[in-house]
Amino acid sequence: MEKKYHIITLGCQKNEYDSQLIAALLKSMGYESTGKIEECDILVINTCCIRNKADVKVYGRLGQYRELKSANPDLITIVSGCLAEKDGKSLLSRFSNVSLVVGPRNISRIPELVEYVRRTGKRRCAIGLGNMNFEIMPVLRDRAYAAWIPVTEGCDCRCTYCIVPYVRGAMTSRPSEHIVHEAEEFAASGGVEITLLGQNVNAYGTDIPEYGDFGSILEKINAIDGIKRIRFMSPHPRNFSDAFIEKMASLEKVCPHVHLPLQSGDDTILRRMNRRYGTDEYAHIVDKLRSSINDIAITTDIIAGFPGETEEQFSNTMEFVKRMEFDGAFMFAYSEREGTPAVKINPPVPPQERLDRLNRLIALQNDITFAKHRLYEGREAEVLVETVSKKDSEFLTGKTLRKEVVNFTGPENLVGKLVRVRLAKAYTWGFMGEMV
Ligand code: 5AD
Ligand code: SF4
Repeated sequence: MEKKYHIITLGCQKNEYDSQLIAALLKSMGYESTGKIEECDILVINTCCIRNKADVKVYGRLGQYRELKSANPDLITIVSGCLAEKDGKSLLSRFSNVSLVVGPRNISRIPELVEYVRRTGKRRCAIGLGNMNFEIMPVLRDRAYAAWIPVTEGCDCRCTYCIVPYVRGAMTSRPSEHIVHEAEEFAASGGVEITLLGQNVNAYGTDIPEYGDFGSILEKINAIDGIKRIRFMSPHPRNFSDAFIEKMASLEKVCPHVHLPLQSGDDTILRRMNRRYGTDEYAHIVDKLRSSINDIAITTDIIAGFPGETEEQFSNTMEFVKRMEFDGAFMFAYSEREGTPAVKINPPVPPQERLDRLNRLIALQNDITFAKHRLYEGREAEVLVETVSKKDSEFLTGKTLRKEVVNFTGPENLVGKLVRVRLAKAYTWGFMGEMV
């Protein structure tokens, strides 16, 4: 009988990409994908550990999946990704149902490790942040029209709250010809949208200047026939130059949207976060983006309750958020990550206070997001249709160039296509649209 795998992906787009690599590796071993978790022979949980909530989610799932192992003793459960790197062997001792723990830089070893488990019945932990092996590995995309393509692995930013450098290692740029090759192959197979990925995409090439800079990658992807939309995630304000903005403005396929993590609107907190920019520099980038690129959407990430944050410093963030008028934001309560420098900054903000600040921030930003969406109500937009809506199967859901969510009625065969939609009614989450 055919052997099957099931992959659960948590966390960011980089993890989505890694899951596609894992899928391709398992397929090359003769496994087929199944949507039914009860019938799989290999279960992969590709994990995240950015905040404590992410850890708790994984532990919960692993506990839940003990039953699957009792029902099928031959089941091989693999914990991969960032939490695997962070917690390592302790996952094996804590969860007897886990066979393999595989960190982000050891993914290519999965076939060999699965063979080992099958042969010996023993369990293994493969972690460590050695050099990335950048041979071109095939990916198995679950969507034909959109691709994630990483430009770097790891991160050198060392923001004091962030665990990523410890679980994904130092930044290494991928050879530019690999990136372009992956994009060309995707375009040749009918793909339309590419999202270039990295923890700090615009630091691309600073480690290996021969590869060129991130602007030159955008330029090369822009020249590929068939590609209609180019996105990237995420840039860091400290590497965001005026020259880059001009390059962006000159490339017609690069979408008018930048996700530019702010983290705090207070200069002292930014310094303690080791962000290496101030609110003035951040505001300059936003002004320059808005004056150079028509109708650009700017979204951000913000952390409430960083250690030592006073009420006054938090209100500076609130004021700055009002001033920036972000089109959208992901907002988080600060979460201690053991081993990061911020854990030692005193005094910590009490957890209840972090949540209270977070809620005030969310309420403020939601009003701004809604007001921004109202400005586009009634306009027409090009939408890339992504799926049949999760909430209501009657609707298709897609994204505008500005990356706003649009739900509208239409036939399922439009998935993966670009369509013109009138943004009939604005909501905080996006728009209800009508096909034109
Ligand atoms: N606590 C809360 N939020 C965090 N982020 C990263 N680390 C932490 C942490 N320790 C947020 C940042 C980042 C986003 C991906 O997650 O805002 O941009
Ligand atoms: Fe992505 Fe960071 Fe989560 Fe890892 S820890 S999956 S890099 S968000």
